[in-house]
Amino acid sequence: MNFDLPILAPSILAADKAQLGAQVQATLDGGAQWIHCDIMDGHFVPNISFGPNVVASVARISDEAFMDVHLMIENPDQYIEAFCDAGADLISVHVEACVHLHRTIQLIRSHGAMTGVVINPATPVSAIEPILAEVDLVLLMSVNPGFGGQQFIPATLSKVEQLVALREKQELSFLIEIDGGVNSKNIVEIAEAGVDVLVAGNAVFSAENISAKVTELQSTLSNLRSE
Ligand code: DX5
Ligand code: ZN
Repeated sequence: MNFDLPILAPSILAADKAQLGAQVQATLDGGAQWIHCDIMDGHFVPNISFGPNVVASVARISDEAFMDVHLMIENPDQYIEAFCDAGADLISVHVEACVHLHRTIQLIRSHGAMTGVVINPATPVSAIEPILAEVDLVLLMSVNPGFGGQQFIPATLSKVEQLVALREKQELSFLIEIDGGVNSKNIVEIAEAGVDVLVAGNAVFSAENISAKVTELQSTLSNLRSE
């Protein structure tokens, strides 16, 4: 997986589901390469979103789109195969939802997807330290999971610093993703803290022109690379 980092990952939770195909296409037209799919079961989080069939429909829109699937569900092991069959390129699971996290990460990899582990705002980085060498990505929740359109939790940035230091010390190469409350006002600070993938839902899909907003946010990130 080689993407020019940092990269924007529009979250389709915020898309108008009556126009999902057109709105996803608009993000791709604007230069998006990742599509963030928030899967919610109404148990692990107090909201219900969508399942593998919607992921499969979105994956069919473009072979190039990298399908970044974020499972906010209990017993994720039961659904790994279904989301891989639906076209997930990467599946992230919450440490708070996994009794046997190491086995779940192995299960995701055995189905051919890249692996991610997620921690909620109140979960310390130390809770995932033992698994860092096994994952391709760490997803830091910068809001309490379940809903888009919330305020970014600034304390998340100290977790980014901890992960950057751990990645360097252990000579690992996992990506750092942040998720929740990202917008044009905080995107530079977040990327400069060392975040590789920035999820944005409402900042993208509430825009008048979705395509232009993606281009604007992604070029803000791309300009940081060249500095
Ligand atoms: C929240 C989801 C986030 C959310 C981001 O549980 O994991 O991906 O959709 O939406 P915004 O960017 O609107 O906070
Ligand atoms: Zn998410």
